[in-house]
Amino acid sequence: MIDLAASILSADFAHLADQVEQATAGGASVIHVDVMDGHFVPNLTIGPPVVKSLRKATRLPLDCHLMIENPDQYIENFAEAGADWISVHQEVCPHLNRTLHLIKSHDCLAGVVINPATPVETLSEVLDIVDYVLVMSVNPGFGGQKFISGAVQKIRKLAEIRSQRGYAYRIEVDGGVDLGTVGEVVRAGAEILVAGNAVFGKGDAKQNASALLEAARSASLQRV
Ligand code: DX5
Ligand code: ZN
Repeated sequence: MIDLAASILSADFAHLADQVEQATAGGASVIHVDVMDGHFVPNLTIGPPVVKSLRKATRLPLDCHLMIENPDQYIENFAEAGADWISVHQEVCPHLNRTLHLIKSHDCLAGVVINPATPVETLSEVLDIVDYVLVMSVNPGFGGQKFISGAVQKIRKLAEIRSQRGYAYRIEVDGGVDLGTVGEVVRAGAEILVAGNAVFGKGDAKQNASALLEAARSASLQRV
C-alpha cells in the first residue's frame, strides 16, 4: 500500500489547515511534519504547538520527523500534542534502542531516519523493533532540494533485508520526490512517499498530490 505523506514544510503556514485539506483531497494519507532545531540541521521550523493545532485540523496520521538533537527530551511533548508517528535520526541517538522504545511507550509508531551518508548497516540491530525506516534522499534541512540517487539502492537493500529476515517495518523516503523520481523509489520498494515542494511548491496542491499518487501507484504495479 502506497501512502503519500504531504510535507507541510513547503506549505503556506498562514493557511495550514486549508493546505492540508487540499493535499488530503488529492489523496495524501499522511501529514509529514518537519521539526528542525538549528543544531542538527541548519534550519529552524516548528514544534509541538503547531502539531497540536494540526491535530484539530485533520484526522490523518501526523508523521513527525524530528531533525533535532536530544530527541528523547521532546518525544513526550510531541506525543501529547497529537503526533501519531515519530521518527528520530540514527546520527543523533547514541541509545537508539531506548529512544525507539520511548516513542512506542507513548503509543506512537516509531521510525528511524538515515541521512544520505549513513549506511543501512547502522540499523541492523533495530530493524526488528522499528515500525518504519525513513531514507533521506536529500541532506535534511530544506525543502525543494535535488534528489540524491544513492537512496534508491538503500531502499532496495531495506526491502531485501525485510523479506530475508521476516521483518515488518515499512519504508519511507523523504527529499526530492516528484514526478521525475517517484517511479524509481516506488519500484525499489518505498511505500511511504514524503513530498513537500512537489505538492505545495506551485500550482494546485490537490492536483499535484493526485498526479504524484497516480504515478506512484502505476510504478508499484511494475515492482518485480
Ligand atoms: C527536508 C525535510 C523534507 C522536506 C522534503 O529536510 O525532511 O521532509 O520537506 O521536501 P521536498 O519534497 O521539497 O524535497
Ligand atoms: Zn522530512
